[in-house]
Amino acid sequence: MKEPLRITVTGAAGQIGYAMLFRIAAGEMLGIDQPIILQLLEIPPAMNALDGVVMELQDCAFPLLRRVVPTSQPEEAFSGADFVLLVGARPRGPGMERKDLLEANGAIFTGQGKAINDYASKSVKVLVVGNPANTNCLIAAHNARDLPPEQFSSMTILDHNRATALLAERTSVHIDAVENLAVWGNHSATMFPELLSATVGGTPALELVDFEWYRDQFIPTVQQRGAEIIRARGSSSAASAANAAIEHMRLWSLGTNTVTSMGTVSRGDYDIAEGIVYSFPVSCSGGKIEIDKTRTLDDFCVDRLRLTEKELLEERDAIKHLL
Ligand code: NAD
Ligand code: LMR
Repeated sequence: MKEPLRITVTGAAGQIGYAMLFRIAAGEMLGIDQPIILQLLEIPPAMNALDGVVMELQDCAFPLLRRVVPTSQPEEAFSGADFVLLVGARPRGPGMERKDLLEANGAIFTGQGKAINDYASKSVKVLVVGNPANTNCLIAAHNARDLPPEQFSSMTILDHNRATALLAERTSVHIDAVENLAVWGNHSATMFPELLSATVGGTPALELVDFEWYRDQFIPTVQQRGAEIIRARGSSSAASAANAAIEHMRLWSLGTNTVTSMGTVSRGDYDIAEGIVYSFPVSCSGGKIEIDKTRTLDDFCVDRLRLTEKELLEERDAIKHLL
């Protein structure tokens, strides 16, 4: 039997936490042969609710779940962590943009970045879900001074999945016929779901859909899907976000040949400013995120890449005191 791996989830008593923990404990993230220890961080006012979640985890009698550690102490939560899912943060309400949360949430990721640096495993993989996810990821990575920034990633697989489902519906195919789609840039209203390289059953997607539909409906629908869900549900996406986070960690640790989208620290690929956390088309192997550097982009794409890059540079500017 494998040694247990330690998975830290912050904001574990929140809605995403509740939609995520039971699936992780069932083996959906790291595989059904991998025992785990869950280390769950919450703020003191949410510890009662967290105790309830822990009772429910116990009541599932998951064979892979070796131990659950509920705590409000970051040093205990991140101790020896192999995987960290930074979910704990305020969600936006109706009428807000995600970057309106920078002030409320940014500071959380300074302290947690430092604590991950000091207490987690040196090979830890950190996924940032709490919004604004790209810039919070930048803050956490910067504050984990001794860890390579490549060990930090922000979540855009939810946007990737939204775009995939929308294209599959439009072209009347199953999800798995859609390949090579990518979501670029910020997890915000400027994100760019790109179809130039995408194929549907092997045919270029842009031969199957009108350019006007792509520009005027597909792109804005993906960009605004989070807000649409908030309007409908009265609170932000939770089960689909939890699903994306589990998928992100599974692909990152176990690998994938197919292209997906993840936020990673830019090293200047596609001429994107170095140092910002930007979503690229990626695949994963050997525990590493690898940017697909083979794409040829036209002027329409490049303009969109620049627009979302500009927003990320402005966000970085707004939190430079936290770096
Ligand atoms: P929620 O309010 O239901 O839960 C958040 C939890 O975090 C709460 O239980 C709260 O007590 C806890 N928390 C707050 N500060 C904390 C801290 N310093 N340490 C530990 N825990 C802390 O919110 P939710 O719906 O679970 O969403 C969480 C975050 O994820 C929000 O910022 C939301 O906008 C974001 N989100 C991101 C994506 C994405 O695609 N990147 C998708 C959906 C939601
Ligand atoms: C989402 O995309 O569903 C989340 O980022 C929540 C939000 O604020 O839109």
